[in-house]
Amino acid sequence: MLDSSFILIVHSYYRWIVLVMMLLQAYWIISRYKQEKKFSKIDFKILFVFTTIFNIQLVIGWLLYLNSTLALSFWNDIATNVKHRQIRFFGLEHMSMMTLAIILSNIQTYRAYYRINKKEVFKSLFKTYIWIYFIILSSIPWSFSPLTSRPNFR
Ligand code: HEM
Repeated sequence: MLDSSFILIVHSYYRWIVLVMMLLQAYWIISRYKQEKKFSKIDFKILFVFTTIFNIQLVIGWLLYLNSTLALSFWNDIATNVKHRQIRFFGLEHMSMMTLAIILSNIQTYRAYYRINKKEVFKSLFKTYIWIYFIILSSIPWSFSPLTSRPNFR
């Protein structure tokens, strides 16, 4: 077992990097979409960098999950724990929604590779990333969240 309290701190602060990247990426996608730009090789590289930054949080998240007594305790007695908001959130909801969002981001990046030099790519990125951002933003345990709250800064 790794030191889960250390991974938790890294995971918690890395969230801010993810959020800043999401803002930058959203601005990039929307401005290129509005300018009706073709999707170039450089655009693919930029998209790839964003996805890699999200993938790092996916790996940290899974490392944390596999070392978190709170998250893993969910699987000890699913029928009872599904009724405990905090255990259910970290044991099931947060893990599955965040993994889904980052898999969708990887699928988009993979598809974009085969659409280099084509138009309409930014339109399709725009349409999918709205959902990806929504999933991520709604699955973060914000300090003000009515579902499960955690401090914004540890
Ligand atoms: C974009 C992706 C993600 C973001 C932004 C994110 C963000 C967060 C935040 C802000 C916390 C609360 C940290 C704190 O208490 O200070 C947290 C906790 C946690 N996250 Fe994530 N997370 C992401 C992906 C994942 C993934 C993919 C997994 C695992 C499969 C995961 C597993 C966990 C676990 C297990 C905890 C709580 C652990 C504990 O308290 O013992 N996260 N996450």
